[in-house]
Amino acid sequence: MEKTFVMLKPDAVERNLMGDILSRIENKGYRIVAMRMEVLSDDQAKKHYEEHVEKPFFPELLEFITSGRVVDMVIEGEKAVAGMRKMLGATDPNEAEAGSIRGTFGFSKSTNLLHASDSLESAKREIDLYFTEKEIF
Ligand code: CMP
Repeated sequence: MEKTFVMLKPDAVERNLMGDILSRIENKGYRIVAMRMEVLSDDQAKKHYEEHVEKPFFPELLEFITSGRVVDMVIEGEKAVAGMRKMLGATDPNEAEAGSIRGTFGFSKSTNLLHASDSLESAKREIDLYFTEKEIF
């Protein structure tokens, strides 16, 4: 069993896609272990996206990710890290597989609906940023 970190971004919340995305995750057989809705501060967003801080698209990413409510989640399941990435589809929704979440609902690389950890190491780091040990049993 693996745990991974998933975040519904402001566009997913704004477009009322939470229920659809959550039911896909549940229907897949994953367990939603922890969940919180919040508006990220600049500091939180910089910590979360620390490997992108120097990238040219970072100012746009920072503005977007702090622009509205996000939903932080810990998802558990067999091979959940790779499995959630597959459910998301490619970062650019125009290249994402048709049946994936981004392939179904997305149209922009910067407002791409959700984030999921790209490795077990990132999952551990990101889960620790958002949740305490006590919250993720
Ligand atoms: P995410 O999976 O959350 O991880 C990093 C994010 O940076 C990514 O999704 C995109 O939302 C964003 N991103 C990556 N490349 C670009 C880009 N070229 N322009 C704007 N945003 C980008």
